[in-house]
Amino acid sequence: MSSFFRTKNLDQLTRDADLSGEGGAGHLKRTLGAFDLISLGIGAIIGTGIFAVIGTAAAGGAGHLGAGPAVSLSFIITAVACAFCALCYAEFAALVPISGSAYTYSYATLGELVAWIIGWDLIIEYAVGNVAVAIAWAAYFHQLFEGVGVHIPAWLSVDYRSAHQAADAVAAAGGAIDPSLTLNYEAWTSYPMIAGIPIIFNFLAFLIVAAVTWLLVIGIKESARANNVMVILKVIILLFFIGVGAMYVKPENWTPFMPNGFAGVWTGASLIFFAFIGFDAISTAAEECKNPGRDMPIGIIGSLIICTVIYIATAFVLTGIEPWNLLGVADPLASVFAKIGLNWAAGIVALGAVLSMTAVLLVFQLGQPRIFFAMSRDGLLPKYFAKVHPKYRTPHVTTIWTGVVVALLSGIANINEIVELTNIGTLYAFVLVCAGIIILRYTDPDRPRVFRTPFVPVVPLLGIAMCIYLMAGLPWVTWVRFGVWLAVGLVFYFSYGFWKSRLRHSQP
Ligand code: ALA
Repeated sequence: MSSFFRTKNLDQLTRDADLSGEGGAGHLKRTLGAFDLISLGIGAIIGTGIFAVIGTAAAGGAGHLGAGPAVSLSFIITAVACAFCALCYAEFAALVPISGSAYTYSYATLGELVAWIIGWDLIIEYAVGNVAVAIAWAAYFHQLFEGVGVHIPAWLSVDYRSAHQAADAVAAAGGAIDPSLTLNYEAWTSYPMIAGIPIIFNFLAFLIVAAVTWLLVIGIKESARANNVMVILKVIILLFFIGVGAMYVKPENWTPFMPNGFAGVWTGASLIFFAFIGFDAISTAAEECKNPGRDMPIGIIGSLIICTVIYIATAFVLTGIEPWNLLGVADPLASVFAKIGLNWAAGIVALGAVLSMTAVLLVFQLGQPRIFFAMSRDGLLPKYFAKVHPKYRTPHVTTIWTGVVVALLSGIANINEIVELTNIGTLYAFVLVCAGIIILRYTDPDRPRVFRTPFVPVVPLLGIAMCIYLMAGLPWVTWVRFGVWLAVGLVFYFSYGFWKSRLRHSQP
């Protein structure tokens, strides 16, 4: 029984990082500085959440009550929850500066079984989360091309089930087409058949994931540079939205401020949490960071603060331009401009959204393989996954496998379900990270900490409480899906990792 709770000590973790990889070529290049990390963070944070999910959070839909103009409050609640967790992540990331994020931290504190559960859970955050981003990317990309007169068939831009659901909804509404369903419904009315099989596949989402995967196989420095450029652009685009949009705000749109009471703000917060996911992704690059002890906390907390300020301003402007109940479209930030006749501004925002989401895809596609890499190095996954490319020095095997799975799922999945699943999985990982900080203070109090989470155990406990509160705002079906996912993970662990674990073989 105690073998489930075997922990790696932190010195051993750092040593193993130096020995890993096939044929001794296991070192990842240390090229990233504090600016790269803040940029990596903003690259992961600002994306689908602010450009797409904000619409559903404000207007409701997909089983959620809308927050209305009070979606800005939802952002504040979520930002506070993330801040508590970020302070815990920052201590861990500086203390355990090697690949693997929450997976690695928990291996050092809570034991192998919990580490496996977190590693498995992080697949939901990174790979499944990226499926949602790729789908939203495809929706904005499609709109962008429509804006310049190029029509991409709808049946190559959405998934089969969403198209089917749109057809049902339109039929139920007696033929009236809700604006949020236009693209999906068009796919349903125009798809071709090949050998009796209806062809509706989100090829755009598939293609962008394939392109990002290729970039990441080529190398981290090249990828970080591309990310820096995209990050600067997307911050400018959001400032542009705030600046131009502020001139069209009608304060009467802010009343009633909380049309569905606090329940709407709460479920809005559970959904909009997606917009904050990513600050923790920075920690997965710790092994490729020049001075992790100083730069990790700066990267994590700095990027979180910058994004929160921009989000709250965006939420106020968006809900001020148009009544809250009309915001539930796939591209709310662009469509509010289009509706008031600012087509040029809508085009600029749509382009910004596409760039932003590309940056998010890049960071998450970068994070996921590094977690697999760390799990493989520990023997919990086959050694094959710890291969480092002889020339590019990137974990190419896990990068390519992640790319293939994410790309295929992006072609067939429904965005709302994927966002909810991503949120519950990520919140759960945050709970375990906060718990890990408390435990480590008791089990290893004297270890020098370059960055200390303040007021332990109060801050981690508040982080845990707020994450559970946000999880409770998600639909029960999301809890069931998450439970099934964890159960499948346990089957994997007991059939492979438990027996092959390097720690099992190195400890008597
Ligand atoms: N926070 C990231 C986004 O909103 C996942 O796209």
